[in-house]
Amino acid sequence: MVTKHKELLKWVDEMTAMCQPDDVYWCDGSQDEYDNMIKVMVDAGMATPLNPEKKPGCYLFRSHPSDVARAELRTFIASKTQEDAGPTNNWIDPDELKATMTELYTGSMKGRTMYVIPYSMGPVGSFIAKIGVEITDSPYVVVNMKIMTRIGTKVLETLGDDGEFVRCLHSVGKPLAPGEKDLAWPCVPNVADKYISHFPEERMIWSYGSGYGGNALLGKKCFALRIAGVQARDEGWLAEHMLILKLTNPAGKSYYVCGAFPSACGKTNLAMLEPSFPGWKVETIGDDISWMKFGPDGRLYAINPESGFFGVVPGTSMQSNPNAMKTIQSNTIYTNVALTDDMDVWWEGCGTPAPDHLIDWKGNDWTPDSKETAAHSNARFTTPAAQCPVIAPEWEDPNGVPISAILIGGRRAATIPLVNESLSWQHGIFLGSIMGSEITTADITDKVGQVRRDPFAQLPFMGYHMGDYLKHWFNIGTKTDASKLPRIYFVNWFRKNAEGKFMWPGFGENSRVLRWIVERISGDAGAVETPIGNLPAPGAINLDGINVTDADMEQLLSVDSEAWLAEIVSIKENYKSYGNRLPKELAAELENLEKRLRS
Ligand code: OXD
Ligand code: MN
Repeated sequence: MVTKHKELLKWVDEMTAMCQPDDVYWCDGSQDEYDNMIKVMVDAGMATPLNPEKKPGCYLFRSHPSDVARAELRTFIASKTQEDAGPTNNWIDPDELKATMTELYTGSMKGRTMYVIPYSMGPVGSFIAKIGVEITDSPYVVVNMKIMTRIGTKVLETLGDDGEFVRCLHSVGKPLAPGEKDLAWPCVPNVADKYISHFPEERMIWSYGSGYGGNALLGKKCFALRIAGVQARDEGWLAEHMLILKLTNPAGKSYYVCGAFPSACGKTNLAMLEPSFPGWKVETIGDDISWMKFGPDGRLYAINPESGFFGVVPGTSMQSNPNAMKTIQSNTIYTNVALTDDMDVWWEGCGTPAPDHLIDWKGNDWTPDSKETAAHSNARFTTPAAQCPVIAPEWEDPNGVPISAILIGGRRAATIPLVNESLSWQHGIFLGSIMGSEITTADITDKVGQVRRDPFAQLPFMGYHMGDYLKHWFNIGTKTDASKLPRIYFVNWFRKNAEGKFMWPGFGENSRVLRWIVERISGDAGAVETPIGNLPAPGAINLDGINVTDADMEQLLSVDSEAWLAEIVSIKENYKSYGNRLPKELAAELENLEKRLRS
């Protein structure tokens, strides 16, 4: 028997009885197991091995065209009451949802193997780490989970006979009749029949119908953000949608910085950036999620709960992210990119022109005249973090790393300056609550230009009421001395000038802003106090060697009172949605901001 954990065995038995797989297989997490599963998928035509000279140990998968991204509209927080799920989540009564899904799961694994994956989010045994067990009928999920988390026997050993674990059930929803040939990417094609469900009180996840990314790799968004968010609220820590990086100055002093940015704002690029001036170094701890707990000294210590990167491929190039490019040269799973004639991969924005012929992400012939893109815009790499050339040596330290600063930011063409230091922890939470991006897509035409608020970049990843979540941040601030808390900085790389052009070059040049931030912390950089926060003093951000005009810099660091007063109207509107769960501290911060702007 692989474990003596009675609750775990009982749950696996119950799920087996419901899903009715042909076999049950407990994953040991070994390399042999990974290699065998890859081989089985290659033999079955589900995976394509890439050219071993160019991309050793790499494989290409193509998803079903209906199953290409997180299904936010089919993501549910089934807390006991709708009020607890809050205004930003889809809610279904948990009993009703379980009944619906039990029907779907009944027999859903017929003709398939059920894999049981014990996994640790965070270095096994770390005081910040937690354990989950994912049951899945997808071998693709198993190999991805092996890269993204720590899986197998060592996790069961740490779990012991009665340790706590999060129950994660996943089925692609495509049982096989006897003799029926499997599909290259089995799933439920109709989006309305997919369910990504969370039962926060039971610490349980039920996912059905999708095999893609965050819908299926349940350690990532479902556990590490939505369920862990609830655990963090109850246990007094933070589970955040944040990168973690280490910045070392020329004197050899290192600072650890977290950063919350909505999806598609360049978190992976920032986590791995190459500073643009000599003597400074950035190293990576994580690119997507940060779990933070208080250490014995009263500071917040962070771990990256993941062990791999699941990054968006299109746009990744030697120019935008050389370290990611180097990471994904070997032992990487590619999903939905294009295949070249010599069995290498290609995608839009990779930095080399499209070859004359490709096989696109749907498996069709493609030429530069084709109307559709060759890679899907949400094509992904799954790659081991340990392969990143700038991974920090302490990235797996079970004690975590002490956080000095937290960056927050979205895509804002106007109003929000390049960088703004919060006046206090409480003011920082206020800034976190108002962050967001302008709506640009035509799918909500009447809202184009309005700001979609995405507090701490958690909007799609909240496991409970957003107002309670913001209150939790205030509670965290009362647990230690103010001087020990990280300082919070609101950044905006995306400000545009009157001609609609970005004023800040971004990418590696963002290190200039990081430098100002850590020099503020060490007391070496100047700032001017303004009604919205502390902005860099003129000349305090080093601009040597870049082409940012004085006029642009002045605008990047200006406070437009009229625009802020309009912003306040829109924030008030947004705050109304929290009802009586709007933390009173936020209402006070908003009122104070208005007073400062008007005085
Ligand atoms: C991600 C996301 O995939 O935030 O990390 O969407
Ligand atoms: Mn993310």
